[in-house]
Amino acid sequence: MSQKKVCVIGLGYIGLPTASLLANKGYKVHGVDVVQSTVDTINKGEIHIVEPDLDTFVQSAVNSGNLVADTKPTEADIFIIAVPTPFKDDHVPNIDYIVSATKSISTYVKDGNIVILESTSPVGTTDIMEQTLKDEEVDTSHIHFAHCPERVLPGKIMHELVANDRIVGGTTKIATKLTADFYRTFVTGEVLETDARTAEMAKLTENSFRDVNIAFANELSILAEKFGIDVWELIELANRHPRVNILQPGCGVGGHCIAVDPWFIVDAGKGDAKIIKTAREVNDYKSEWVVNKVKNEVIEFEKTHAKKAKVACMGLAFKPDIDDLRESPALYIAQRLKADGLDVVAVEPNIDSHPEFDNLDPKNAIVESDIIVFLVAHKEFLDLDIEEGKTILSFCKLDDRRSKKRS
Ligand SMILES: NC(=O)c1ccc[n+]([C@@H]2O[C@H](COP(=O)([O-])OP(=O)(O)OC[C@H]3O[C@@H](n4cnc5c(N)ncnc54)[C@H](O)[C@@H]3O)[C@@H](O)[C@H]2O)c1
Repeated sequence: MSQKKVCVIGLGYIGLPTASLLANKGYKVHGVDVVQSTVDTINKGEIHIVEPDLDTFVQSAVNSGNLVADTKPTEADIFIIAVPTPFKDDHVPNIDYIVSATKSISTYVKDGNIVILESTSPVGTTDIMEQTLKDEEVDTSHIHFAHCPERVLPGKIMHELVANDRIVGGTTKIATKLTADFYRTFVTGEVLETDARTAEMAKLTENSFRDVNIAFANELSILAEKFGIDVWELIELANRHPRVNILQPGCGVGGHCIAVDPWFIVDAGKGDAKIIKTAREVNDYKSEWVVNKVKNEVIEFEKTHAKKAKVACMGLAFKPDIDDLRESPALYIAQRLKADGLDVVAVEPNIDSHPEFDNLDPKNAIVESDIIVFLVAHKEFLDLDIEEGKTILSFCKLDDRRSKKRS
């Protein structure tokens, strides 16, 4: 059998690992990105994103000649679209990148090709992809369209791309079958077949499930504070019930998946996605609640000490031990406090610098500040010595001592 050619559109956290994996599996891969510097970096066998083992995969893919990056697509047997799907200001999904990526392949697709959407998308987007090609006057009657959502965990992408179960949903039965068979050539997890709309909704459902469950924990944390109860102890005790598994609260919910994708359901649900919408609101409200808690503590401090309080925001990333600030509630909280006139320093050990904050070493920040606000449970924060007299507020689980307010 001749070497199959795959054209991967979008070479970010999903597209580049997929392209390099396929190239290492023997496919001839043409990777496409609109950013010239990304293309140049990859063609040198290097990477522009941080992900363990990706450098080795890309280097060997490029050295073997099986991976070439370009700013333009080319003819291929299989097209994979992995471009961003953000939302607009009013939480309406933005599928412009998908439409534009689809248009870019219109002069290259031909009968018998498979066109796969990997971007997390609102229900119906795979159909829109086909319609977009029709609008470009492509006869799509012999082209196969499918959605195959990604569910990898950043930091473990190269492993999970292969090991995770995958859901494949085509717009026709034959599209589903052909696409699933393609994934079976490089995935060791089970490849589950369905239709395109169910596959699209499955991905949104997975992230909404997480969001709703974190919202429950976040709501409990607000109620526990009101009732004078330690939320961490409360959850630990409740979780001893054999069928209860409450997640951990935090200062909100972030990242470009869980904080974004549920809105795709809310938007399409037109009033019927009540729990999913409320969960989004509860998780966003938790960040506002944290802002107010810190501001009240600052007022108290300044009344007692007759001087301006310095606040250290410990952590800016959206979860522990990563450098990702996308949709991060911790970053939002630090920005809000600063915008409201507080004297704020930040500590984010996973980044070198930040344009808006003095990013201090944890020890220095603690010495310099009056109020220490733990927003993210980074490992660097676990055994810090904090002298008596400092005010500590913790909105993440570091340890029992810091989960309680101490003045
Ligand atoms: N990163 C994750 O952990 C993850 C997990 C599951 C699902 N997803 C989903 O996968 C999709 C891609 O996410 P990502 O994290 O890889 O995004 P990303 O921003 O890292 O990468 C997307 C790339 O697409 C490029 N691009 C944009 N428009 C293009 C076009 N028209 N033609 C060619 N290239 C184009 C961008 O320059 C960028 O390099 C999103 O829908 C996301 O929600 C991501």
